[in-house]
Amino acid sequence: MILVTGAAGKTGRAVLQALARRGQPARAWLRRAEQAEDRLSADTVVGDLEDARLWVEACRGIDAIYLICPNMYARELEVSRLAMRAAQEVGVKRIVYHSVLHPQTEEMPHHWQKLRVEEEIFRSGLPFTIVQPCAYMQNVLAYRDEIEATGRYTVPYDVEARFALVDLVDVAQAAARVLTESGHEGAVYELGGPANLSSLEIAQGLAERLGRPVEAVETPLEAWKRSARAGGMPSETVGWLAAMFGYYDSYGLIGNGNVLGWLLERAPTSLAQFMARTFTD
Ligand SMILES: NC(=O)c1ccc[n+]([C@@H]2O[C@H](COP(=O)([O-])OP(=O)(O)OC[C@H]3O[C@@H](n4cnc5c(N)ncnc54)[C@H](OP(=O)(O)O)[C@@H]3O)[C@@H](O)[C@H]2O)c1
Repeated sequence: MILVTGAAGKTGRAVLQALARRGQPARAWLRRAEQAEDRLSADTVVGDLEDARLWVEACRGIDAIYLICPNMYARELEVSRLAMRAAQEVGVKRIVYHSVLHPQTEEMPHHWQKLRVEEEIFRSGLPFTIVQPCAYMQNVLAYRDEIEATGRYTVPYDVEARFALVDLVDVAQAAARVLTESGHEGAVYELGGPANLSSLEIAQGLAERLGRPVEAVETPLEAWKRSARAGGMPSETVGWLAAMFGYYDSYGLIGNGNVLGWLLERAPTSLAQFMARTFTD
């Protein structure tokens, strides 16, 4: 039995689906009871990831934890410590941590805190596997309305900066393999995508898929911040995202899909394949 945290989120759902396809039972950790209505899993635990007692309960009868922390969550290290403590108390056989590509980048707080988690996992003495996915292709879907309405793909960083982009379905399939097989203990797997693409190339791919021109446009970071604040985004999240965009602007985020291809035993999904699947009429 595998405990999947953040189970109602984007990543958690994909991992639960991939585990189900392998016939692997899972316990889904949800924040709110109504999320169970989605029938993500028959076995659920409901509550806050910062509840130490709930962690111990959630880990009973569990072989492995798939630890997904909420996105941009300032207390990721604290949550991870609770997971490790409960795993040790109950005797969970392995912790598999959903990290991020290049957690070493100190300029991006949400990457840097994942490095601290990885460090504590190494020191915990627990058998572990760490997966480090790059940005999901699914993130592009958030721009869909704007793209369809205006023909513009607007980002607050250099449109020529390059990024590794991966299909979340591939990440989830790789995670499910790592969770259900032995032989991955002690591994840290970078999960890059099939190519490192600029926003110009993403816009070109969108244009080909939609059959209309799509222009990649850079908006100034200060303008993005003003609009995010006006939209009610918490100031800490604005700061973390702005740090990420600043880093992207200078360096992009380059990865490599070889390890993912090895885990999938096939080529990782290309952006064109992803768009053909998701941008349907
Ligand atoms: N997006 C990417 O491109 C990418 C790439 C690599 C790695 N990652 C990492 O993947 C992880 C998951 O990201 P995601 O986008 O899948 O997250 P997400 O969709 O925001 O899902 C997070 C889930 O956690 C729940 N949650 C939030 N706070 C909680 C709490 N205190 N207690 C219990 N549950 C709580 C949320 O509940 P509600 O539904 O109630 O809000 C939500 O269901 C993050 O650590 C992120 O850094 C993301």
